[in-house]
Amino acid sequence: LAAASGRRDLAGLRVVVTAGGTREPLDPVRFLGNRSSGKQGVAIAEAARARGAEVTLIAANLEVADPGGCDIRRVSTALELQDAVTDAAREADVVVMAAAVADYRPADVSESKLKKDASDSGLTLELVRNPDILAGLGHAPHDGTLLVGFAAETEPDDEALLALGRAKREAKGADLLVVNRVGWHEGFATDENAVVVIGRDGEIVTRAHGTKTSVAHDILDVVVSMATTTAV
Ligand code: CTP
Ligand code: CA
Repeated sequence: LAAASGRRDLAGLRVVVTAGGTREPLDPVRFLGNRSSGKQGVAIAEAARARGAEVTLIAANLEVADPGGCDIRRVSTALELQDAVTDAAREADVVVMAAAVADYRPADVSESKLKKDASDSGLTLELVRNPDILAGLGHAPHDGTLLVGFAAETEPDDEALLALGRAKREAKGADLLVVNRVGWHEGFATDENAVVVIGRDGEIVTRAHGTKTSVAHDILDVVVSMATTTAV
């Protein structure tokens, strides 16, 4: 591991990482959320710090401890995350969007706790789309900022998974896309991960598996090679 060897190959780079899962409130006591623990994003922030980067962590409802040595900005909803990352990205050399951002939020947030009605048999929620934050960054001019997205997919077939990843990278305008298979028993809250990293031509840049820390270092190895070849 780079950290173990004391390599400081990210020294002088400003790295912004989003981690965790957003929560979209319904009322003062309820939200729509997702199962992201923040482990992989926090591991990337920690690894980048260990390799000498100046790290800003945009933390959405983490279920893991804060990493040391990072500037931490706490957010909860997708809109808050958008504000925080858009602001931090202006000064960043690398932006890693590891957070699981809610695609939709409740159209209305009730100021008081929603009450059941004795006669109702169910409840239909109206949701509206959240902005696609990564696509927003990817489609704006971002010369000098390497943009790394993630993709969470349940697709079991390897080729089909790659095809989804390639399409997603293209749609988002990300420089790299880390494809992550997720499921009832995979991806979330575990200490291990397996990913495929896709580059700008849809090529497989690297495959990584192991602890989330070791996967973090493998992703950063690609970032370092791109940062030095494109003079970020
Ligand atoms: N993302 C984002 N803003 C959103 C939704 C996702 O910035 N509103 C980012 C995530 O942080 C991740 C990437 O986009 O880096 C892919 O997220 P994912 O949920 O896998 O893809 P989506 O584009 O939302 O497509 P879908 O959920 O329909 O598969
Ligand atoms: Ca999504």
